[in-house]
Amino acid sequence: MSNIGSLIQEADWRKEKHSPLIEAPVKVSPDEVFELSVGMSPEIEHPNTTEHHISWISLYFHPNGAKFPHQVGHFEFSAHGESVQGPNLGPVYTHHQVKTFLKIKESGTFYALSLCNIHGLWGAKKIVEVSDS
Ligand SMILES: [Fe+2]
Repeated sequence: MSNIGSLIQEADWRKEKHSPLIEAPVKVSPDEVFELSVGMSPEIEHPNTTEHHISWISLYFHPNGAKFPHQVGHFEFSAHGESVQGPNLGPVYTHHQVKTFLKIKESGTFYALSLCNIHGLWGAKKIVEVSDS
């Protein structure tokens, strides 16, 4: 039986189209609402077709020293060109990118997990520090 961590692939988003990219400030104030975006590599475009697409991205926050992470959001991408005429003939495609707004009271690490419908689970992380100055 595989360790669950071995099922999550990690790679440099500059070289791998499946690697999520989390963009957020490196430092924030304790009560500052800030923007965080998460999507797939902006360098190498992942397909978005009926047959091959990103199904969802889930975002977690793990405060430094805490035992458990907190789920921040789960974003489903539900439209990939499906239609009654056939695959890729539909009028709408959900792009695999989201922006969300949040505040944190402690420094920690954001983790993104994404699922490609045929290439499995991929992960990435970003450290954000809370600072009063
Ligand atoms: Fe893929």
